[in-house]
Amino acid sequence: MKTKNAIFLAFILGIVFISLLAFNFNDKKETAFESWNADDKAMNAKVDSLLSVMTLDEKIGQTVLLTSTRDVTGPSVNENYEKLIKEGKVGNIFNAYEASFTRNLQKMAVENTRLGIPLLFGYDVIHGHKTIFPISLGESASFDLQAIENAARIAAVEASAEGLHWTFAPMVDVARDPRWGRVSEGSGEDVYYSCEVAKARVKGFQGEDLKATNTILACAKHYAAYGAAQAGRDYHTVDVSDRELRTTYLPPFKATVDAGVASFMTSFNELNGVPATGNKYLLKDILRDEWGFKGFVVTDYQSINEMVPHGIVKDEEEAVKLAIDAGVDMDLQGEVYSKHLKGLIENGTVPVEKLDTAVRRILELKYALGLFEDPYRYSDEDRQKKYVMSEGHLEAARDMARKSMVLLKNENQTLPLSKNKKIALIGPLSNTERDMIGSWSGAGKHKDDPVTVLEGFVEMIGAENVIHAEGTKLSRYMKRTDAPITSGFSEAIAAAKKADVIVAAMGELQNMSGEASCRTDLDLPGNQKELLKELKKLNKPIVLVLLSGRPLTLEWEDNNMDAILEAWFPGTMGGHAIADIVFGDAVPSGKLPLTFPRSLGQVPLYYNMKNTGRPIKPNVKINTYKSMYLDNPNTPLYPFGYGLSYTTFEYKDLKLSNDQITNEKGIKVSVDVTNTGNYDGEEVVQLYIKDIVGSVTRPVKELKGFQKVLIRKGETKTIAFNLSIEDLKFYDIDMNFVAEKGDFKVFVGGDSEAKLTSGFSYN
Ligand code: BGC
Repeated sequence: MKTKNAIFLAFILGIVFISLLAFNFNDKKETAFESWNADDKAMNAKVDSLLSVMTLDEKIGQTVLLTSTRDVTGPSVNENYEKLIKEGKVGNIFNAYEASFTRNLQKMAVENTRLGIPLLFGYDVIHGHKTIFPISLGESASFDLQAIENAARIAAVEASAEGLHWTFAPMVDVARDPRWGRVSEGSGEDVYYSCEVAKARVKGFQGEDLKATNTILACAKHYAAYGAAQAGRDYHTVDVSDRELRTTYLPPFKATVDAGVASFMTSFNELNGVPATGNKYLLKDILRDEWGFKGFVVTDYQSINEMVPHGIVKDEEEAVKLAIDAGVDMDLQGEVYSKHLKGLIENGTVPVEKLDTAVRRILELKYALGLFEDPYRYSDEDRQKKYVMSEGHLEAARDMARKSMVLLKNENQTLPLSKNKKIALIGPLSNTERDMIGSWSGAGKHKDDPVTVLEGFVEMIGAENVIHAEGTKLSRYMKRTDAPITSGFSEAIAAAKKADVIVAAMGELQNMSGEASCRTDLDLPGNQKELLKELKKLNKPIVLVLLSGRPLTLEWEDNNMDAILEAWFPGTMGGHAIADIVFGDAVPSGKLPLTFPRSLGQVPLYYNMKNTGRPIKPNVKINTYKSMYLDNPNTPLYPFGYGLSYTTFEYKDLKLSNDQITNEKGIKVSVDVTNTGNYDGEEVVQLYIKDIVGSVTRPVKELKGFQKVLIRKGETKTIAFNLSIEDLKFYDIDMNFVAEKGDFKVFVGGDSEAKLTSGFSYN
């Protein structure tokens, strides 16, 4: 009897407890940003009180984001935006910067509107604000997470001083097709690495405290699978299985949520038949329900409107309904929330609660930034003067640029060059300021500030040692079939004749990658290769310094150049950083975050492909029904993770602490790396695993850890990694994210072709 009573009592208590939990849960306000104070009573009171007095028009105004005319980054502008600010019809502005400019706009909102709600200022602060760092892909090639975080931090310090509260970064789209111009904006092909970079960038922008005046909101974009555009053509159709979506494209977005990112931007593309901007599966089921994201979601440029040509709705009004239903909180320059939401709410098609939720999310972040305390706190001339392009920032940009460069070839130790030799600096990118800073270079000045290769060389070795000639020109829209212009060749050849060494600064113009900048040919554009062929006839060492926003196909160059240095678009201090590396003041340490194919026909080519049922064996030359091309090897020209140094590293003594992994106990993997060359140098030590058998097929290799370490010449360092059961998890046959029992291989080395191997099992 006693036991029965006890069970009954426990049952009742259980019910009371569960109801209390449920009550608490229901009672809890949807809050914006968990790593800041989700239960901030003062914030909730402020937002509640505003919402309770706001008219429908005022609420809708908060969901509107318009561009100022200060900068334009898309196909439309509303010249009347200032009038709309004063009328409370726009709550957020982008493409505005500088303290006095942003303060002036803020004043229009605060002093003219009924409730004085401050504007939120956003901008594409992608790889620096005015001190421009290497393009994001270049930064990623550093494999230096601390430096990447620091670059984002510096960008936030500069942007916030000029009145900005919010950046449309990081771009975390995994991409494996170098035809797609936006590979330049991401962190490459690998999922694990992209997650690490994404977290570092969110941390850098947002810091520890959003209220601090030197931190800004980050925005994970473009959600989702934008990088999987068919044929590498921007905005094109994306059709990927749920497994591929969750395995490859979503993890970096999830990583930003875990890092506390404040906002998300939808992507232009459709995903499996539904445009991302109206995609409930992405925006509600995954983002809100599975991941618990509490910030706000903004569209990409007019991407609500674009659902009409996508063919998913018949007009913009239907598009608005689809977007708000799916969970879009803010309309970027589409001006369709402002046009249609009111009617849709008044006629009962859209419940007003949906709008309230969107407005709440936006107001919460305005509150978190401290804008209700002081709307002008970010627009600060003194800080602007002190920090923007400060010496420390420029030095950090130079350092990051050095770290980002990847030495692809260095026959007979051609590099570094002696400072006493005469150099012929040739090429269409040898003295172009604009190209140094790359696309999406925000408020970075296109003239005067960026240091060109020529300027870097002259400062390093003196004007008397540099003979300069462009040799040829590039243009963004040049076609394969355009007649070659060779008028500059003779000047370039004459310059080269007078020199000991030729340095060719070639590649792509900055606007040949980035948004809407896709290419069907990844050879050196124009007649740069023809010029190189002429120069080669002179029998002098040739160093190719590449500027590009993507991998290029460089088989000929690899066979014919003495050295190749991939410098990406290296930023404001690019010319100095290139000179630092070329003349040996710094030792290259970058590694490729994206595979360089031999030819375009291999694309997409990435290191962690599947084995297939007919894999080729190493050194097999004949295609006996194997999965291989007739006219080219399967292998890349330069694999993911690859990059040389001026010194050499030897890997040995790969050890595993155990040959069994358990749920409780991981495995320590260690390896001895010796610097066997003549320079102190940094190496990116990489750890890969292979799950040999799975309930679904597994990749040939997966990156699970890396460390960038300085090893002095002659020194040996033991590098250790911890593998845990978490590292073995994947989406199994039933789409559960689990580790499956079985055998695993481990590979350690300096690139994804890492040869040192061992194994362990999970039983
Ligand atoms: C791009 C976004 C960018 C936005 C605002 C769009 O065209 O896709 O990446 O943030 O413009 O400038």
